[in-house]
Amino acid sequence: MKNKKLLVTGSTGYIGGTFSYEALKSGYEVIGIDNFSNSKKATKQILDNFINFTFYEIDISKNLKKVNEIISKTKPDVIIHFAGLKSVSESEKNQNLYWQNNILSTLNILESIKNNNISLIFSSSATVYGDKNESPIPEEAKFSTNSAYGSTKLAQELLISDYSRAYDISCISLRYFNPVGTHADKLIIEDIMSSPNNLMPRILRVAKKIDEKISIYGNRYPTKDGTGERDYIHISDLVNGHFAALKKINGMDNHNFFNLGTGKKTSVLELIRTFENVNDIKIKFDYKSEREGDVAICYADPSLAKKELDWTATKTINEMCVDAWKGVKDGD
Ligand code: NAD
Ligand code: UFG
Repeated sequence: MKNKKLLVTGSTGYIGGTFSYEALKSGYEVIGIDNFSNSKKATKQILDNFINFTFYEIDISKNLKKVNEIISKTKPDVIIHFAGLKSVSESEKNQNLYWQNNILSTLNILESIKNNNISLIFSSSATVYGDKNESPIPEEAKFSTNSAYGSTKLAQELLISDYSRAYDISCISLRYFNPVGTHADKLIIEDIMSSPNNLMPRILRVAKKIDEKISIYGNRYPTKDGTGERDYIHISDLVNGHFAALKKINGMDNHNFFNLGTGKKTSVLELIRTFENVNDIKIKFDYKSEREGDVAICYADPSLAKKELDWTATKTINEMCVDAWKGVKDGD
């Protein structure tokens, strides 16, 4: 069967770039869109090596006309919509930017596909579960959000549900837990230079001697060692979840939701210790008070994705730590 033609928004970002690279290697035709608000032209150059790649530099949130033109010209079968701003702390400081960028991008994508028989796969987040649920969290858990970023993710899901019902569009929202690591070819890595808030990039900054130490936010949680527990998922497993969704999307009606997580929890201290052991690098840390809005424990019930998408995460925490370090250790 012929590969589907894919339009990938956010195609030069960490996850969208890794996905595009893998899709191009597998022979998919990929039309990439990005405005480089949080990515580098170097990633586009890597993707440009593939003859089956075309690219448009536009801000999707501000240019419905151009999005319409690209879609009528290229006629994709599926849009994989990764583009969005993703920093929880930045979203609290600049709510307007997050609402404008994230909501209008998704609205423009939906407007442009509504009568064109194009399906949609959307990058959602476990952030939509907020802090009111017990783990493991199934897809039907209650929603709540603790940040403007989280609220925009939830609002985008609702928007997609309405359009998918009104215009009969097949849509899948993939709710990512905590993506970490680098793809085996080490080409597209998470940016550790622009003040990351997340744990793994901060560990990498200490390993690279950019920062002297990492602060662990809280050591009195009701967890095995008192530090917060999360469901870290290797970027390669996460990307494979999108290929699994691509295979099944045509048989699905309206809007479907799947957790992409391992179903396993790892504490902050365990992640640091594993990183130290597998890479033979000391990571200095101290303890600070709990970060506002953090939950003690958050991990997925990934059984629906296994059942419906035939997808499971396979990579271990050891592999995530090895691959995350491989990605950045030789770079500037
Ligand atoms: P990223 O910032 O590396 O990639 C997002 C890309 O979208 C960037 O290249 C950015 O330049 C582009 N972009 C943003 N707004 C745009 C616009 N208006 N027009 C065109 N391009 C635009 O982030 P990522 O880690 O690759 O995340 C991809 C998606 O996954 C995001 O929607 C994010 O919210 C979601 N997500 C990420 C995580 C995570 O921990 N990385 C967790 C859950 C969900
Ligand atoms: N942590 C520290 N020190 C740090 C950074 C993080 O101790 O310097 C701890 C946090 O307190 C938490 C764990 O490490 O216990 C993981 O924190 P991250 O910031 O890496 O990830 P979160 O689970 O808080 O949030 C991430 C994304 C959100 C997304 C959420 C659920 O940043 O966008 O996962 O998908 F919504």
